[in-house]
Amino acid sequence: LLLTGALLVGCDAASSETTPSAGAPSPTGPRTFKPGAAGAGDPYFPSYGNGGYDVARYAVKVRYDPKTDRLTGTATVQAAATSDLSSFNLDLAGLSVRSVTVDGAAAKHSRKGNELVVTPAHGLIAGNGFVTEIAYEGKPEPLENEVLGEGGFLHTDDGAIALGQPESASTWFPVNDHPSDKATYDFEITVPDGLTAVSNGVPAGKSDADGWTTWKWAERQPMASYLSFVVIGKLRVTTGEHKGRPVFSAVDESLGKGAADTSIADTVEVADYLETVFGPYPFDAYGGVVVADSRIRYALETQSRPVYSASFFRQGTNTEVVAHELAHQWFGDSVALTKWEDIWLNEGLATYAEWLWAEHSDDRKAELTFATRYSGSPSSLWRVPPGKPGVENLFSQSVYQRGAMTVHALRVAIGDKAFFTLLKTWAEEKRNANGTTAEFIALAERVSGKKLDALFDAWLYGTTRPDQPKPL
Ligand code: ARG
Ligand code: ZN
Repeated sequence: LLLTGALLVGCDAASSETTPSAGAPSPTGPRTFKPGAAGAGDPYFPSYGNGGYDVARYAVKVRYDPKTDRLTGTATVQAAATSDLSSFNLDLAGLSVRSVTVDGAAAKHSRKGNELVVTPAHGLIAGNGFVTEIAYEGKPEPLENEVLGEGGFLHTDDGAIALGQPESASTWFPVNDHPSDKATYDFEITVPDGLTAVSNGVPAGKSDADGWTTWKWAERQPMASYLSFVVIGKLRVTTGEHKGRPVFSAVDESLGKGAADTSIADTVEVADYLETVFGPYPFDAYGGVVVADSRIRYALETQSRPVYSASFFRQGTNTEVVAHELAHQWFGDSVALTKWEDIWLNEGLATYAEWLWAEHSDDRKAELTFATRYSGSPSSLWRVPPGKPGVENLFSQSVYQRGAMTVHALRVAIGDKAFFTLLKTWAEEKRNANGTTAEFIALAERVSGKKLDALFDAWLYGTTRPDQPKPL
């Protein structure tokens, strides 16, 4: 990510201080402009994201009519080149591109599968900011993923849901679709009157014209693209304010008022508890959205406002799932992944937060939850190393439960004082940024003053059950 300030270095592109060396010319030689890479280089998902630029901000305006299932949109992408570019890619799945401009001038565009290739009239110089605007339209379709299930835009009975991990955004707007390139987002979503369109961040206004309502949302903290979402439908909305921040929650109206509403209403209480263990809540808004479409079988930590499948609340109030998704606001969202392989950093910490919440709210000790999982987990869990799960096990029980057991083993090893300092320091030092497992281990060693390689080797990378944790 480069924030807006970085765009101002544009005129200094020739100075070696602000110009990354990749693709930069010698001080006297001619520049060579090359196409930006079609992927961000993630070993698990090589085609996700792109190379050669860094997005600072997206402004996405879409109009969607559930009756016809057609979407028309414009996306304005403010970025900075990180190498000398003759062309660059954005990820866009399906949909037709009408026109593209770069810095206000018409640009050539072509499609290669889910890649949009933009060739500006002139090369883009490393370090310089640029703005590209894409006009597009069509019938959005989700992306199939054989092992992980589909992600992205789904047409529902009366609206739509765009949601998914590890990818979803490219099904409704052109995007650098990898968590390593965080950016701020402004959304304007126009839908027929009577429908609600809810997305990330703070509500930024609502206007009506000719039977259509435009809902505006602003996510002002950097966000990974898969954490963006929109839910359009007949929704029961609750608004409020907490600690000076807006609260905006919504539950699908087809669900009778009940456990979903009461669970989501506990959002701010859970967030306040998590602040005591993780440090300040990282975002400008609170909320939650409960969807009823049976194709959504998970909850997702969409930034500032998680989305929950109604199935979590079928047996009654469920604040553990709320604690899980809210914990991700610190770990997953504010501190985002650099590569998908490190997913345990998100899921292990969020699952451990459920254990902490259960101890706080129900007096079920985290130590007891650990003991139950340690002795009761199937052998399949011990065969999958959560620190290197492979694409097929990205969301497996090993990543979640053994990930959380790893966190607990660390707590036992370094003691509560160092452990809770570590969680707060990780959240603070990596706030609005990206982290890796190696960086987390290094910080744990720094904070505790202990050598932890054997512990992490066994818990994250071993293929058999590690020994019972003991204080180091
Ligand atoms: N990160 C989500 C959560 O734990 C789960 C997403 C599941 N995605 C999937 N493709 N299975 O809260
Ligand atoms: Zn999770």
